[in-house]
Amino acid sequence: MSSPSSSSRSVGRVVDGVRTVEGAGFVVRRPFPTPALDQFDPFLLLDEMGPAELGPGEAKGAPDHPHRGFETVTYMLDGRLEHRDSRGHAGKLGPGDVQWMTAGAGVVHSEMPEESFARSGGRMHGFQLWVNLPRRDKMMPPRYQELPAARIPVARTADGAVTVTVIAGESLGARAVIDTRTPILYLHFRLAPAARIAQPVPRDFRVFAYVVSGEAALGQEKRVVAGGQMALLEDDGDVVSIAAAPGSPLSLLLIGGVPLREPIARYGPFVMNTRAEIAQAMDDYRSGRMGRIQS
Ligand code: FE2
Repeated sequence: MSSPSSSSRSVGRVVDGVRTVEGAGFVVRRPFPTPALDQFDPFLLLDEMGPAELGPGEAKGAPDHPHRGFETVTYMLDGRLEHRDSRGHAGKLGPGDVQWMTAGAGVVHSEMPEESFARSGGRMHGFQLWVNLPRRDKMMPPRYQELPAARIPVARTADGAVTVTVIAGESLGARAVIDTRTPILYLHFRLAPAARIAQPVPRDFRVFAYVVSGEAALGQEKRVVAGGQMALLEDDGDVVSIAAAPGSPLSLLLIGGVPLREPIARYGPFVMNTRAEIAQAMDDYRSGRMGRIQS
C-alpha cells in the first residue's frame, strides 16, 4: 500500500539497447550488459528477442551451452521456443508463456525455435532476463518453473486503460505465482494512450523500466523514454509513476529486486563470486560434470 506520504522515484540514467547477435545468429536488443552499463544488481542481462517477422527456416536459436550461478527468465510474446537440458528436462514456450530456470550448480541446455515454427516462420518476440543468485544459492540443484500464459496473473484498472501481467511480485492486487530466491518484481504493463499508473515498489528494491514500444513519461520528472531504452530509477521513493504518451499505446517492463551487494566474477555463461569459482565452473563443464544433452 502506498501511504499518503508516498513519493515518486526519479529517473537516473537512461541507456539505449544495443543490437547484438546471439546464439546461432539471432538478433537481440540488449540494454545491458553493454559498455555503458555492466549490470544492475541483482540483474545481469536483459535481451529483447525481435520483434522480427521471420521467413520459413529463418528462426535461429541457441544450441547447447552451459549456465551456472544465476537464473534465466524467458518470457515470450510471439513465436515458439523449445528447450532441452542435460538433466533430461524438455519444454516448450509459446506466446505469453514464462520459463524461470534456476541454473544453480549447472545445466547444459539448448533454446531453439520449435520445429514447426522454424519451418513455417512467423513473428518472434520475447525477452530473457538473467537474475543473479546470492552466494548461498549459486550451487543449488537446478530447478524449473514453467508457466503457461493462462496461469500468469493479469490485472486491469477499472477503466481498462492499464493492464499488467504479473510475472514476479504484485501489482493492482494480483500476486505472481512464481517463487523467487530473493525478492523480485517483474511486471509487464500495457497502457492505452495517455493512461497512467503509480506502481508501489519497496524502498530497498533497485528498479528499472524497459520500454518495449510506444513512449513513456517516467518518474517524478516525467522523463520521456522511448522504445528500446532502459531507465534506471533512483532509490528515492516508494512509487514508480508511469504514463503513456497521448499518441500511442505503451508496452513497458518494470523490473526490480533487492541488490545482493556481493562480488561478481563473470565469464560468459558462468556468474560466480570469485575467479577460482569460475575456473572450477569451466573445469566442471569441460570435463562433462554439468552433463550433456542426450539426443
Ligand atoms: Fe541459455
